[in-house]
Amino acid sequence: MSKILAVHASPRGERSHSRRLAEAFLSAFQARNPQASLTRREVGRALIPPVNEAFVAAAFYPQPEARPLSMQADLAFSDELVGELLGHDLLVISTPMHNFSVPSGLKAWIDQIVRIGLTFNHTLDNGVAQYEPLVHGKKALIVTSRGGFGFGPGGELEAMNHADPLLRTALGFIGITDVTVVAAEGEESEARTFAVSAAEAEQRLVALAREF
Ligand SMILES: Cc1cc2nc3c(=O)[nH]c(=O)nc-3n(C[C@H](O)[C@H](O)[C@H](O)COP(=O)(O)O)c2cc1C
Repeated sequence: MSKILAVHASPRGERSHSRRLAEAFLSAFQARNPQASLTRREVGRALIPPVNEAFVAAAFYPQPEARPLSMQADLAFSDELVGELLGHDLLVISTPMHNFSVPSGLKAWIDQIVRIGLTFNHTLDNGVAQYEPLVHGKKALIVTSRGGFGFGPGGELEAMNHADPLLRTALGFIGITDVTVVAAEGEESEARTFAVSAAEAEQRLVALAREF
């Protein structure tokens, strides 16, 4: 692993816990792998365009190789994001839980990189849609922070967690199936409680920096 793409999704800057924890991983990883390159993509504090009609028409144009210039322009930013993803080996996503899912900027980024013909293919088998992932050999690390407690595997609120399953499903759909999630929970509890959870998450991330 030598090329890391870090996608930061919190609308908060210095106050963001998910961003800080992901950066702790990145620093530890880079300290062990000084040759590793790092690209940061901001999707929380920069506007990632939502899918609109022009995007859908261009992305699903029946002859992609003959796409009119105007449609190519409609896909230019998406092409850039897909190229960026394909050009890295390790994807690190930092994200808060927002209303049981991911912030809208991260959802918009997913919508830009799940691209027919580029990151997945679609065929018909006896008239039934079949999907083939086109992204290979990549790993993902998701670093997340939540206000409540118990959204993780086996937790009381697991069924309300639509963030990790969404990310695992979308990444798996394009072929990134090696996904690790590290969470800090309880940011809305008293400071001491969250500090323990965040410290555990940070320890795990520093340990992962030795394994990745
Ligand atoms: C708009 C909004 C929605 C939120 N929704 C949830 C939620 O559904 N579940 C939860 O546990 N925490 C929720 N929180 C709390 C955040 O997940 C928590 O503050 C987290 O630490 C934010 O991550 P950050 O510090 O990286 O921005 C929400 C916060 C905001 C601002």
